[in-house]
Amino acid sequence: MSKPNLVIALTKGRILDEVLPLLAQADIVPAEDISSSRKLIFDTNLAHVKLMVIRGSDVPTYVEFGSADIGVVGKDLLLEYGDEAFYEPLDLDIARCRLMTAEPIGRPTPAGRLRVATKFVNIAKRYFAERGIQIELIKLNGALELAPSMGLADAIVDIVDTGKTLTANGLEAKEFIAHVTSRIIVNKASMKIKNAAIREILEKLSDAVAKRAS
Ligand code: PRP
Repeated sequence: MSKPNLVIALTKGRILDEVLPLLAQADIVPAEDISSSRKLIFDTNLAHVKLMVIRGSDVPTYVEFGSADIGVVGKDLLLEYGDEAFYEPLDLDIARCRLMTAEPIGRPTPAGRLRVATKFVNIAKRYFAERGIQIELIKLNGALELAPSMGLADAIVDIVDTGKTLTANGLEAKEFIAHVTSRIIVNKASMKIKNAAIREILEKLSDAVAKRAS
């Protein structure tokens, strides 16, 4: 019997670079070089598997609505989007970083209502509410590190890897919010209807992750 068609939505950028070797170990290889193409969907060596390459913030949406069966996305975006709408069966343990608050180096946290700039508005709301800290949220879509020096915010909530972007912009990490790695998510209906084909990929990926860790 032929295998059902599967679409895997990948997050472009650093996650893509780190996930392609894992996919290769799971016998899934794009039919052409993704990084040198403007295409957004790619055939693979497997006739039934296609890869989409999109922004991480769109991966949960594609998987929730079933346009993609499987997604690869950072835990930061799952914490922001909510993780009820799909299954999250595997931690790929790649693209490790932390969600942190950050403030200007050496500047004491101002008293009173804190102005916080972030693209992670739900995470920030929850984090400060749990601590009883009143904030004014300022939604930005990128370059968050600029907001404090331009007088737009007192603090930011962002992902931190090496910390170089913070330092280069006169900021320091303050409070730890969450560890972040990339996760596999799966559409709930696909998991039922295409179970064997999806399980096969999950098992191979899980072996690849274990091999990498050992
Ligand atoms: C992320 C994040 C920081 C940077 C942190 O941006 O928003 O700007 O990486 O990395 P560092 O601690 O090693 O300096 P990314 O390059 O992923 O792009 P984005 O602005 O689209 O999130």
